[in-house]
Amino acid sequence: MKINNTPFRTIWLHPEDEHIVQIIDQRHLPHHFVIADLRTLEDFEVAIRDMLVRGAPLIGSAAAYGMYVAALQFAASPNFYEKMGESAVRLKATRPTAVNLAYAVDRVLMLVGSLAGLVPTPRDGSGQSRTTQVEIAEQIAKIRQAASDITEESVAHCRSIGEHGLKLIEAIHNRKLKQALPSSVDRQPSTVNILTHCNAGWLACIDHGTATAPIYAAHDQGIPVHVWVDETRPRNQGASLTAFELKEHGVPHTVIADNTGGHLMQHGLVDMVIVGTDRTTRTGDVANKIGTYLKALAAADNGVPFYVAVPSSSIDWSLHNGLTDIPIEQRDATEVHFINGLDEKSGEVREVRLTPQGSPAANYAFDVTPARLVTGLITERGICEASEQGLLGLFEEQSNS
Ligand code: MRU
Repeated sequence: MKINNTPFRTIWLHPEDEHIVQIIDQRHLPHHFVIADLRTLEDFEVAIRDMLVRGAPLIGSAAAYGMYVAALQFAASPNFYEKMGESAVRLKATRPTAVNLAYAVDRVLMLVGSLAGLVPTPRDGSGQSRTTQVEIAEQIAKIRQAASDITEESVAHCRSIGEHGLKLIEAIHNRKLKQALPSSVDRQPSTVNILTHCNAGWLACIDHGTATAPIYAAHDQGIPVHVWVDETRPRNQGASLTAFELKEHGVPHTVIADNTGGHLMQHGLVDMVIVGTDRTTRTGDVANKIGTYLKALAAADNGVPFYVAVPSSSIDWSLHNGLTDIPIEQRDATEVHFINGLDEKSGEVREVRLTPQGSPAANYAFDVTPARLVTGLITERGICEASEQGLLGLFEEQSNS
């Protein structure tokens, strides 16, 4: 996607030094555009935990590149494989809810494990034979390739989600076109109004986004769309990130306070909801940013279709019950107590306190929307019912998993 007409992804290898991974540091958006260099495993742990990068698919890709950087860091260690195992545990501990993280780390770890079997065991006095050093270099190249593959797959999956989801928006647009009266005072009665929560846009992924991919596809085809953007307290990913990227792409949108969605739905101002997911069970329960469940309840009460954009890397095939089985991250209460914003007088970004000193705060980062409230899952293979049967209809190879 583009920022100031320049195409960007959210993560890439430094063009002149492949030991460095570069990211857009999302903590500074929308007021400043900052690129950060990540050189060590520790840099990746901080980047994921402190949300320089965030959003399930991007966390997955970052974790895979974190394994690559760890491999570079520990290349000379006589305990290379143990260090890689420890790096995997450390990266997985950074954020618990998005399954993309564990998926990506495990994929790299399996590669490392299978490569470990190829490595000769004899060692010289320095702890490693020459052959082992050479082989470790080859393995690092393979780990880098795996990180790149995970990233490219994510882009391709988001693109496909966009193509499938576009059909839903097109259908609503066509229905509204037929219903629109020629004398309507509304200049664009066929505009499709879509509500989204948090940021499941390209900034949460590598490109396109998940929930936003159908929106960008529709907009690019000339279908009139308008997006209601939930601000998404406490970290305001909607107000700061979704609004930023929609504005950059020229998609009409309106930022709303988190509690506005129900009112809009009661008044026919929302045609559909599309959100992303951090982890979806094989039965179709969806963990996503805190507040998603309330939007699903309001949508069900008002007959508004509620769709979830789900790349397969966000499906946890081992889980059946989202409410009991998905770990919900609890973050530091300071995120509730304080808010960041631009002081337009000084031009500086400042943090100010919202709550009284001494009032405790709780910061649950995600909630679970039960499958019964989800109209459909938009995956890279097509759209299905939010149920085990629906998902297995598209991902038959998971039947015995
Ligand atoms: O805490 P965050 O900002 O990482 O949470 C992000 C979300 O909840 C997104 O909706 C989800 O990861 C899907 S991203 C395509």
